[in-house]
Amino acid sequence: MATITLLDDSTRPIAPKLEGATAHHELPGKHLKMIHRYHLQELNQVRRFLDEFEAGEPKLAELSKAASTLKMHASMRLFGNLCGQECEMLNAHHSIESQMMFPVLHNRGNDGIKRVVERLMAEHDIIHYFLKELEIKANKIQQNPATENFESLKETFKNLEKIIRSHFKYEETQLEVALGFYGVEI
Ligand SMILES: [Fe+2]
Ligand SMILES: [Fe+2]
Repeated sequence: MATITLLDDSTRPIAPKLEGATAHHELPGKHLKMIHRYHLQELNQVRRFLDEFEAGEPKLAELSKAASTLKMHASMRLFGNLCGQECEMLNAHHSIESQMMFPVLHNRGNDGIKRVVERLMAEHDIIHYFLKELEIKANKIQQNPATENFESLKETFKNLEKIIRSHFKYEETQLEVALGFYGVEI
């Protein structure tokens, strides 16, 4: 999969300077940034849970075998739950962008903006692939909270987290002015 190339900043098109843009045009871009901040806070919470769970693992070993297994399974299921919620929220965000905002911006934008939008759409395809994978693994751990399922879910979450952070940054930087300039509503 072309994940690495897609996330390589040097291969990402840069939005052209839009002549005649004013501070007023930055408002929708600021709104998008705020929405991204919200999703990043949610991601941070899942990440914190994961880190605390991993840090607490040695303590679990001090419990009796039965109690530690029970606690471990509950934590794995909870992690699955959090990942599942994250999938839903990010899917909703990307659907709005891919189906409503980006087609309008692609239609109205100049060639430089069109290239940025096409790239963002391609990144959405990759993100969608990981979200699907995360969803499947999050469901699987509900059925069977086994260590190998947890490790596998964790790996997908970490990959997705890296991709989302990079994608958000690219998207909000390049669309900072373009959304307002071309009258695209969020
Ligand atoms: Fe996006
Ligand atoms: Fe976005």
